[in-house]
Amino acid sequence: MTLTITQFDAPFGAEIRGLDLSAPIADEDFAAVEQAWLDHHVVAIRGQRLDAAGMVDFSRRFGDLESHMLDQYHHPETPLIIVLSNQVEDGRSIGLADAGSFWHSDVSFRERPSKTTLLYALEVPAEGGDTLYCDMIAAYDDLDNTMKSRLDGLMAVHDYGYRDRLQGERGATVVLSQSQSEATPPVLHPVVRRHPDTGRKALYVSPGVTERIEGLQAAESDELLKAIFEHCLQDKYRLVYKWRAGDLVAWDNAAVMHAATTDTLDPAKGRTLWRTIVSGGPTH
Ligand code: SIN
Repeated sequence: MTLTITQFDAPFGAEIRGLDLSAPIADEDFAAVEQAWLDHHVVAIRGQRLDAAGMVDFSRRFGDLESHMLDQYHHPETPLIIVLSNQVEDGRSIGLADAGSFWHSDVSFRERPSKTTLLYALEVPAEGGDTLYCDMIAAYDDLDNTMKSRLDGLMAVHDYGYRDRLQGERGATVVLSQSQSEATPPVLHPVVRRHPDTGRKALYVSPGVTERIEGLQAAESDELLKAIFEHCLQDKYRLVYKWRAGDLVAWDNAAVMHAATTDTLDPAKGRTLWRTIVSGGPTH
């Protein structure tokens, strides 16, 4: 099979064709996948049929996997997959119905945020449940030099608990148990982060998890974050991903932030995906 990479009709993102992920992937093919992931930030490999072991094996090609702290939603065969689903069986949710209908970069609430996230769609509605992405490298590149100098060296506080404090504004989110909450204290990351592989600079703040900029008065921090988010969230930096069953999508958390839209999805429209998280290194 020949592997081809076709850019989406969108500001970024690409589809990779010519791979069957249920079979072992040759090193040279995975090198091409990884390069496409770096170049396009979000890559989709459609028409796949994966079991849990196959999903874990392919995800591991990107690096070590970590299990999500919400262990109630782990896949029954492996804690390395978290099930995202709005389906209920025997009165019990089979997965996390809304993994984050707000802009965020995965696991930025930890010192070592996720490198890559992979999602595999088992069941998706014909309409709705899209995933939104925002290109934080392009958004950084387009800032004027005054803003780039202002952001240089600033650190921001990322706090998982910030989601709960914003709950009224954003709709239902997950409330952590006391032990889960104690395991996720606020952490600092640079506002402008160098990509660990390419060295390119990206904005690394998000409306859902970045509470404030360290060392600034609250009003100044709020005003600066608002200006950054208004800039990033322009359509020219955005990708809307429309799912089909069998899609495997991998994205680069150092290059994009993303948002689910499951907060507004009709629960009668079934949506079930598996997610794996690839570990990343420190940001500074
Ligand atoms: C996520 O935020 O990781 C999940 C995205 C989605 O369910 O669309």
